[in-house]
Amino acid sequence: MSIETLGILGAGTMGSGIAIATAAAGGIEVTLVDVNAQQVDKALAGARTFYDRAVEKGRMQAAEAEAALGRITGSGDLDALGEAELVIEAVFEDFDLKAKIFRQLSGIVAPDALVATNTSCLRVSDLAAHVSNPARFLGLHYFSPAQINPLVEVVKGAETDPAAYDAALAFVKATGKLPLACRDSYGFAVNRFFCPYTNEASRLVSEGLATTAQVDRVAREALGVAAGPFFVQNIIKPRINLHAVRNLAPLGAFYAPAAPLLVEHGEADKPFAIAEDAAGVAGNDGVVADRLRAATFLPILQELDEGVASAADIDTGAAQALRFTPPCQLMDKLGRAEVERTVGALCQTWGLAQPKSLAKVGSLRA
Ligand SMILES: NC(=O)c1ccc[n+]([C@@H]2O[C@H](COP(=O)([O-])OP(=O)(O)OC[C@H]3O[C@@H](n4cnc5c(N)ncnc54)[C@H](O)[C@@H]3O)[C@@H](O)[C@H]2O)c1
Repeated sequence: MSIETLGILGAGTMGSGIAIATAAAGGIEVTLVDVNAQQVDKALAGARTFYDRAVEKGRMQAAEAEAALGRITGSGDLDALGEAELVIEAVFEDFDLKAKIFRQLSGIVAPDALVATNTSCLRVSDLAAHVSNPARFLGLHYFSPAQINPLVEVVKGAETDPAAYDAALAFVKATGKLPLACRDSYGFAVNRFFCPYTNEASRLVSEGLATTAQVDRVAREALGVAAGPFFVQNIIKPRINLHAVRNLAPLGAFYAPAAPLLVEHGEADKPFAIAEDAAGVAGNDGVVADRLRAATFLPILQELDEGVASAADIDTGAAQALRFTPPCQLMDKLGRAEVERTVGALCQTWGLAQPKSLAKVGSLRA
């Protein structure tokens, strides 16, 4: 079955981006619903601006842009989703709100419609308890900005039917996106390590070991990221990142949000100040590099132990969604002894067992 009608619930940052990307791919009618009428108007205006710019830059023909815009319909009424073959939920990252929405949707969508959540960090199988047909429910996790970011994590819940999963995978590919198949677990494949990496960045500053600018510079040097953790959080918004980090807290104390910096900025949604001078605290570049690498590598090795995703897929996700140098390739390059030194120290700090996959470093991508 190929999807021809998409409903999106929540016309915020992600819902509007998914609508723009899907309508541009052609052949799919998109209905965008939000309780807040202003959000719907803003999303439609944003779509027009995005397509106009694409025409100006020669990436789209004017007729194509007009047709794409014509495929998006806005509404403030949940009933408008009744005809959709696939509904993607993209409301605030709040379990109770999402659960309530899914219960409301149950009386509206067709029994064989696919329903997906764009949750960043909640577990699909936990949300499935509130859906009328858990066999037709799964995770479709887009990355910001969804208009252009190619990656979508496709997450199978405990009860997701294989045919429903395949239909969603086909939808992702048909809309020009890159699917990353991963197991249902907190943070899926990418946020599982991105959140602790941002968390450790805040701990380094809160402990007086480095400045924000120094952490960003060392992250670029030691992990080969295109932009450092504070710069990136300012783009995705500190509030959004804090939400995502908080949802990983069930994984243990190491994952819980770092106070005070990350929590204060997240709660106030206040951008991090990043000075021009990135020299920072003299003599500490080494400790910053070790801790940022360890906080990224440890969750990845745990993911490999748990079979959340393959090393190749984690590398693809990191490169495509975050513009990281592929981290499993980097671990292989650094070698087992070096990765064990930094990850071992982090495990000791947090009283964690060393991941079994440490033994495979050197040939993770073999
Ligand atoms: N922003 C990101 O970087 C990002 C990336 C990936 C995934 N996500 C996830 O996507 C989801 C949406 O995030 P966002 O950043 O787009 O949020 P947002 O705050 O920009 O938008 C959420 C929208 O949901 C609407 N909404 C709230 N309650 C509603 C209801 N009862 N019915 C209909 N609409 C309702 C709001 O009016 C708002 O427009 C979250 O689960 C988030 O974790 C966010």
